[in-house]
Amino acid sequence: MRHLMNVLDLSVQELDDLLELAGKIYDNPDEYKDVCYRKKLATCFYEPSTRTRLSFESAMLNLGGQVLGFSSADASSAAKGESVADTIRVISSYADICAMRHPKEGAPYVASVHSKIPVINAGDGGHNHPTQTLTDLMTINKLKGSFSGLTIGLCGDLKFGRTVHSLVEAMVRYPDVHFIMISPDELKIPDYLRKDILDRNLIDYREVGVLEDVMPELDILYMTRVQRERFFNEEDYIRLKDSFILDRKKMELARDDMLVLHPLPRVNEISTEIDNDPRAVYFKQAQFGVYVRMALIMTLLKEAGSI
Ligand code: CP
Repeated sequence: MRHLMNVLDLSVQELDDLLELAGKIYDNPDEYKDVCYRKKLATCFYEPSTRTRLSFESAMLNLGGQVLGFSSADASSAAKGESVADTIRVISSYADICAMRHPKEGAPYVASVHSKIPVINAGDGGHNHPTQTLTDLMTINKLKGSFSGLTIGLCGDLKFGRTVHSLVEAMVRYPDVHFIMISPDELKIPDYLRKDILDRNLIDYREVGVLEDVMPELDILYMTRVQRERFFNEEDYIRLKDSFILDRKKMELARDDMLVLHPLPRVNEISTEIDNDPRAVYFKQAQFGVYVRMALIMTLLKEAGSI
């Protein structure tokens, strides 16, 4: 049984195939409207979500399938103490595929071990969020045409930001990619990413503290939210939450073809005054998430022999 826990579970070839399929679906969605007829997706979300859960559900409905699930731990028997292992054993006989979000790192992996259906990690704590990475990659690929030769600025909470970690790990597998890490000292990328991923792969990167200084160099600016829910201490959160705010003045420093991505939700790190700037593509990015999840559901169900 094939699951998706980490974007690195996919080889570069598999990733390219998935993005190609997502692009085909985007161009001709009607051709895929019955591919998952009568198949069911369970969305088991133990943590809040808007985009991931609803884009998964939209994806399955677009494929002609059906959806069931819960949107908080309180709305499931987890509130009575049921384990993830027992829950997925039961869900395996109710649905054909499951997308799971959980605040505990590794919980979707535990589910996959006990599952008879494909399990997709829809975000586990500060660990991984592979379908957000697929969404980010599809956005870059569609709007820039390639990953190679790009300079990508990653800005904000680079310590707890699981979307940043996954994106870096996925992109270092492509040639000639450059990163500029923009964060306060306390929210710099974790050591494992610096040593095991960037240094080991001889990736060109640098770490800076001022966004304005690097704006003219960037092909992509990937903004992130300072995540209140990942802090142990409210004082630290309040001190750091307004570290970087992207506004019209900073956008004036950027190239005409630079793109601003953000996994969303945003709080105040991107001023709404730039929402209508053609370079601000974060809502388009959320839309691409539906197509790439359609491609992923199709791929995993095909491998499972369900469709
Ligand atoms: N980007 C993302 O994971 O959004 P949600 O938390 O709304 O799913």
